[in-house]
Amino acid sequence: MANIKFFLGEEIPLEMHKVRMVQRLDLVPIERRLAAIEEAGNNTFLLYNKDIYLDMLTDSGVNAMSDQQTASMLVVDDSYAGSATFTRLNDKINEIFGKKYFLPVHQGRACENLLSQYFVKKGTYVPMNYHFTTTKAHIMINGGEVLELLMPEAVKPTSSEPFKGNLNLDELQELIATAGAEKIAFIRIEAGTNLIGGQPVALDNFIEAGKIANKHKIPFIIDASLLADNLHFIKTREEKYKNHSIREITEILSKTADVIYFSARKLGHVRGGGIITNDETIYKNLLEMLPLYEGFSTYGGMSVREMEAMTIGLDETMDEEMINQGPIFIKFMVEELVKLGVPVITPPGGLGAHLNAMEFLSHIPQEQYRAGALGSALYIASGVRGMERGTISEEREADGSDHLAAIELLRLALPRRVFTLSQIKYTIDRIAWLYENRKLIGGLEFYEEPKVLRFFFGKLRPTSDWQQKLVAKFKADFGDSL
Ligand code: F0G
Repeated sequence: MANIKFFLGEEIPLEMHKVRMVQRLDLVPIERRLAAIEEAGNNTFLLYNKDIYLDMLTDSGVNAMSDQQTASMLVVDDSYAGSATFTRLNDKINEIFGKKYFLPVHQGRACENLLSQYFVKKGTYVPMNYHFTTTKAHIMINGGEVLELLMPEAVKPTSSEPFKGNLNLDELQELIATAGAEKIAFIRIEAGTNLIGGQPVALDNFIEAGKIANKHKIPFIIDASLLADNLHFIKTREEKYKNHSIREITEILSKTADVIYFSARKLGHVRGGGIITNDETIYKNLLEMLPLYEGFSTYGGMSVREMEAMTIGLDETMDEEMINQGPIFIKFMVEELVKLGVPVITPPGGLGAHLNAMEFLSHIPQEQYRAGALGSALYIASGVRGMERGTISEEREADGSDHLAAIELLRLALPRRVFTLSQIKYTIDRIAWLYENRKLIGGLEFYEEPKVLRFFFGKLRPTSDWQQKLVAKFKADFGDSL
């Protein structure tokens, strides 16, 4: 990373890009924000952009593209089969990951659908460092069971462990010994983790997991959706690899896996995805399913424009100064919140800053959805949209009871290269106000609850008039300020 010191000693993230295209934003008055969150059933997924000031819902499909990416979208080769655009993408993937076969798909969960249908049989296990919502749903629908083999630090909200996302290799060995290798559909490492705060995985952990998988002939699959951040963390936190280039780290990491899949809505800053492998049997079997769910093997449901920009985006991901932009902004935000005493997941990870709602709203019963309530309150106080990553994002148990999440997070995603430092500071300011006034925040309860992935469309209501009280306090403190 470029070493640039400030004469005045300030430590702030410094952009290695300039902004040449902008989008107008509005901050609507707090009365409208209150009405909007009510209309959305206190579910930030159901808000509309016109009511949102800073959209920190996700980093998926909304990262800033480079000038080179945008330009590349004009020189595509469009055809159903055999386009030169696909060949360019295929060659780039081959160059970066050193694997022969690439299956394009429309987004990350499409990979999960194909892989789960192929590998998961009824009664099999899929051990992993942590689940992602759509991953788990696909494995379950095919009759498999997700087993999270975490390190003890993984769900500890505050920690100085640099790689909280590591797979617990001792537990993996134990599982293989007790269940038998044939009962394991595949081993999955998410690089880095999503639901436990964007926490990364060490390169040595991939290497060791790969060796175990190989020894027992269990397929080893890496979800590389959040790989860009993880590469940055290997380079900056894993002493052994600090002199390796990002390309070299990627090459070593790729060698450990039988299959790598990714959402290009994150990796590559476009909208799409893909599956990469060197294994001809796996490739041929997945290829048979591809036209049924995605499209022909040279587009897989993606637009050629996205594929062309993905080729450039993946190449740019090998640039250390490009992939550090997400993590250094997140680090700034997390460290400022820590200084203010706001409970936040540490160490800072990738993807976004994660408020620890379990502690932030410890006065609310967990059954009343602390992370969801915090998301609703933050939107009212700031127009900033976050995402609940706690109990609402879990599926109910078979007996209908709520599965209380191990951690309750309000994720404030920082789409890469999108927000300015002053916008981050505004968000920190409103979070600080909310923390000071946290006792005003109350719980939520469902009034519309879908059976699967309920967090997308579910609707909730406040358990009291706490939102009106929060608005009144805001007006008393901020006067006519938006
Ligand atoms: N794997 C991980 C680790 C992800 O974070 C996501 C998506 C997927 C798979 C699925 O990819 O959305 O392209 O189908 N995460 C988004 C998020 C939705 O907001 O965190 P997809």
